Amino acid sequence: EAPVILSGLGICLPEKVVSNDDLAQQIDTSDEWIRSRTGIGERRLAGEGQETSTMGAEAARNALKDAGLTVDDIDVIICTTMTPDMVFPSAACLIQAELGIPRVPAFDVTAACSGFLYGLEVGGSLVRTGAYKRALIVGSEKMSSVIDWEDRSTCVLFGDGAGACILEKGTESGVGIIDVVLGADGSRDDLLYMAAGGSRMPATGETVANRDHFLKMNGKEVFKLAVKEMGGVATELLERNGVTPDQLKCVIPHQANVRIIDSLAARLELPRERFLINIDRFGNTSAASVPLALEEARRLGRFESGDYILLAAFGAGLTWGGALLKW
Ligand code: ACO
Repeated sequence: EAPVILSGLGICLPEKVVSNDDLAQQIDTSDEWIRSRTGIGERRLAGEGQETSTMGAEAARNALKDAGLTVDDIDVIICTTMTPDMVFPSAACLIQAELGIPRVPAFDVTAACSGFLYGLEVGGSLVRTGAYKRALIVGSEKMSSVIDWEDRSTCVLFGDGAGACILEKGTESGVGIIDVVLGADGSRDDLLYMAAGGSRMPATGETVANRDHFLKMNGKEVFKLAVKEMGGVATELLERNGVTPDQLKCVIPHQANVRIIDSLAARLELPRERFLINIDRFGNTSAASVPLALEEARRLGRFESGDYILLAAFGAGLTWGGALLKW
């Protein structure tokens, strides 16, 4: 049976560009520090009226156009995000309304920066069974809404944006999503989290005053584990599918820190040129990062039909995931 393929890709990037120098005018940081520690030069931030759902809907519209499909061709909608417009209804339902997709199921998958990989596995499985012909997978984040703009250790890292793909059954054997590996370690919820706004700590004057509605991160620990787990999924995927690193035409890593990407390159013994790196322009866009990078790699001709490509991500949860694709 032919694997599930990504039949369309689309992205949405806010127009507003914020450089490291812009940030350095507001907080105690510098372009030199941010670039050398993270590889980030600038990021996009959502403007007036741009929400997770509206950016996600625009990315989805572009993916539909890319696949030559219309809203009537979609049978299920999955949005992966850690910054939904509201706790409920889901961002997927808001995207459905925004696009006018009729009455198909819509739901969110929450796995932070690994979200898109989780979305691929969930959506791919629904399509593989034959129960749904086409799945729309959207990774969209308005990270600027959960960032503490007074915390220099986190606010310089993130950006906003969205990416989307359409999944459907392919026709060629061995072409499409070859394999996916996912994992999680829920015992490390102390490393990356937003404490308030959920049922455990509903919003009060006190939670707002304590800045509990902002993302908190232990950057050093997250860095180490990202290196370990992204390397782990990459190795596992290659080994169990009998593919050597050298056969990978392109690697699409989650864009959290260019030094994390460099350690993955060292572990796979591949040159940096095989990796799509756009963190310099967009920062860490969480669940949007992998589809944004995948779309850019395709646009730049970094891979062609028949090439192996590898996706890998790591994020809050902790969660991680990887996918081996033959394009
Ligand atoms: N500008 C200037 N100085 C800063 C800044 C800044 N923006 N931020 C921190 N510093 C200072 C610190 O205060 C510290 O100073 P001190 O030594 O006087 O205390 C010094 O720089 C070093 O700080 P570290 O935290 O040790 O810096 P490190 O080299 O570890 O880099 C970073 C920090 C960039 C956050 C790194 O740890 C990292 O990238 N971690 C991974 C993040 C990640 O992968 N997230 C992915 C998941 S995200 C998700 O799921 C949503």
